[in-house]
Amino acid sequence: MKEKIQEKFKSLFATEGTLYMSSGRINLIGEHTDYNGGYVFPGAINCGIMAAIEPNGTDTVKVFSIDKDEYVEFGLSEDSLPEQHWPRYIFGVCREILKRGGKVEGFNAVFAGDVPLGAGLSSSAALESTFAFALNELFNNGSIDKFELARIGQSTEHNYCGVKCGIMDQFASLFGKEGALIRLNCKTGEYKYFPFHPQGYKVVLLDTCVKHNLASSAYNKRRESCERAAAAIKANHPEVDFLSDAKRVWLDEVRDKISEEDFLRAEYVIGEVQRVLDVCDALERDDYETVGEMMYQTHFGLSKLYEVSCEELDFLNKLARKCEVTGSRVMGGGFGGCTINLVKEELYDTFVTTALEQFTQKFGHAPKIYNVVISDGARKL
Ligand code: GLA
Repeated sequence: MKEKIQEKFKSLFATEGTLYMSSGRINLIGEHTDYNGGYVFPGAINCGIMAAIEPNGTDTVKVFSIDKDEYVEFGLSEDSLPEQHWPRYIFGVCREILKRGGKVEGFNAVFAGDVPLGAGLSSSAALESTFAFALNELFNNGSIDKFELARIGQSTEHNYCGVKCGIMDQFASLFGKEGALIRLNCKTGEYKYFPFHPQGYKVVLLDTCVKHNLASSAYNKRRESCERAAAAIKANHPEVDFLSDAKRVWLDEVRDKISEEDFLRAEYVIGEVQRVLDVCDALERDDYETVGEMMYQTHFGLSKLYEVSCEELDFLNKLARKCEVTGSRVMGGGFGGCTINLVKEELYDTFVTTALEQFTQKFGHAPKIYNVVISDGARKL
């Protein structure tokens, strides 16, 4: 990937840019909790987006995507929004830095990635984080702190890509550390690294290769449900700003004030916030059985209460249970993508072979298998 990027950069711009990269992410547990002020527990992985970048002394951004084989130019004013989808992530990052009083001028860039697209591994956050990190170094002497860089990526999604996402993906992409998961309190911004080397286990992702076109509007709808439920609870308990502040019994108090659908969404979130804490406690005791059981509970919630699973994901989850996999659940926003599985080493081969066989038989295509390696986040190469 690196050589290809450097070669293309040279052929397009006749110089050598500086190389930056940022990572995709997994999340062990804590799904749809970030925009509810709850905990998440992600880590960066060993695939990501890499870019060569160099200021070009103009006010135009000139960028080539190797994976799309497409060259785009755009200006830096608000009315220069690119028509294509992918350049909007870069344009958004530039705009969000400028809006915060930071500096961005024209630059040349070539980038490529190896995060599987649409698999729920946050390729878009990796793209935003790569550019946010690089533009901070190239134009702002690194003066924007990393948390703000994550917010810049998040605001890019909100304001230029139509997804009202939380902070988890950009945070993980920027803060990731080799061999560690990060528990983030999305309300306070406090975070803690947990070394993650589950002795005798493997973490494997099974990608259904299913992508839903309406995923971003369905995602935004989930968020609205949560906000309505939190507002109803706040009427009785003014200290509640986010669903993560609410006790389960407080939700029961408003059961007949909110729709059944909003109730179920909120029930899932309140349970999930607690599960992250339980998993972190269990990890400190090396109690992987509890970690795994919580993962199955999360899957149940995401499938039946939050309704962001799909037939293919439910199939893989059931199969994992049958194969005695310790923990399994849909990962990321849902509506397709991967399951994350915590599996004993001695069961790994049987599980993967069975999943490949039975999934293919049922759905006519094979799931993809990714072995997870927890790696560093954003960096200059
Ligand atoms: C997507 C969003 C994140 C988070 C997850 C679900 O990945 O970008 O902010 O909400 O879904 O946990």
